[in-house]
Amino acid sequence: MPLRRTLSSATSVLKAKLGLRYISTTCRAVVLPRFGGPEVLEVRHNVEVPELKPREVLVRACAVSINPLDTRMRSGYGRSIFGPLLPLILGRDISGEVAATGASVRSLSVGQEVFGALHPTAVRGTYADYAVLSEDELAPKPASITHEEASAIPFAALTAWRALKSTAQITGGERLLVLGGGGAVGLSAIQLSVAVGCHVSTTCGKQSIEWVLAAGAKEAIDYTSEDIEAKLKGEFDAVLDTIGAPETERIGINLLKRGGHYMTLQGETASLADRYGLAVGIPMATAILLKKQFEYRYSHGIEYWWTYMRADSEGLEEIARLAGAGKLKIPVDKIFLLSQAREAHEAKDRRLVPGKVVLNVD
Ligand SMILES: NC(=O)c1ccc[n+]([C@@H]2O[C@H](COP(=O)([O-])OP(=O)(O)OC[C@H]3O[C@@H](n4cnc5c(N)ncnc54)[C@H](OP(=O)(O)O)[C@@H]3O)[C@@H](O)[C@H]2O)c1
Repeated sequence: MPLRRTLSSATSVLKAKLGLRYISTTCRAVVLPRFGGPEVLEVRHNVEVPELKPREVLVRACAVSINPLDTRMRSGYGRSIFGPLLPLILGRDISGEVAATGASVRSLSVGQEVFGALHPTAVRGTYADYAVLSEDELAPKPASITHEEASAIPFAALTAWRALKSTAQITGGERLLVLGGGGAVGLSAIQLSVAVGCHVSTTCGKQSIEWVLAAGAKEAIDYTSEDIEAKLKGEFDAVLDTIGAPETERIGINLLKRGGHYMTLQGETASLADRYGLAVGIPMATAILLKKQFEYRYSHGIEYWWTYMRADSEGLEEIARLAGAGKLKIPVDKIFLLSQAREAHEAKDRRLVPGKVVLNVD
């Protein structure tokens, strides 16, 4: 046996005897070297595992889920930010096991099962054997759900949490409208609002009606065959628009009470920055948002927001509690292996799988 391999295997044995886990300095990852279709994704076996900063945690991935942001980033969405940083690793969501912790991490320990999500602008994503997240982006995984089920939840649920709890500050007895309740964020929003005692109405496709009602929505309107405005009665305290089309924005705003909150997931910051560059696009987006906020406050007496996912450790703990109690579920439609990331992206792009797709990382 060559000397290097002998030394490395001796080190592994010593680490194992001392109760330490052997962590390689490189690992397998799905890398995006350039923007394009699913065919640009490359499985590489020698990707560096970064050194941990004090508040960071190295997670050995068991499952990672695919979000619309992943397929959009792959196609070039956010190129003004990510273009200069290529090659990058896609993926926000993860469920796995703590492999190592930075010097200041107190709440998590090696060997613990965890789940969580990275911020939308993170460059080293989760489609890898090992991912690095900060301590506040992770929580203990509920023991009652599998890694695949857990990986489907955090990014979507934290986005819904940001809108409903941080922005609209929903409370029991309020009426919420979720435009597009059949997707992962919509289902999370329904379940988080029902958990605090809100009355939820939603729009979704025919195939999602059973799910949204099981999630606790009181009223589900099929947007493909029914007249949403004719069907929805009364006024709402908050509207979460996961679609963000001009038509859904108009409907959502007209259905709000004075003082209510309209929140869309389709903020224009990244697309304007992509079109005009960061220096022009970001101030332009801010100006457009401020103008809309001012106009809708004046014309309808409502608060208008672009919602973006953000880490929230308190939110993630509550999400974990609800998921553990069976009160927050995102159905997983199909599981691929990490090495099949291309096929999984193709399935999402071609709408062959309507619901959540997860990559198993074993
Ligand atoms: N701003 C942020 O930080 C942020 C974070 C997360 C997601 N997002 C964005 O939010 C959107 C939803 O994300 P997701 O993870 O929930 O996606 P998803 O799980 O893929 O769900 C999308 C769902 O939207 C539904 N839909 C499409 N058109 C509709 C319409 N006109 N009316 C009602 N429902 C409609 C479809 O449901 P049916 O099957 O019922 O037709 C589809 O399943 C995506 O565009 C994503 O990029 C933004």
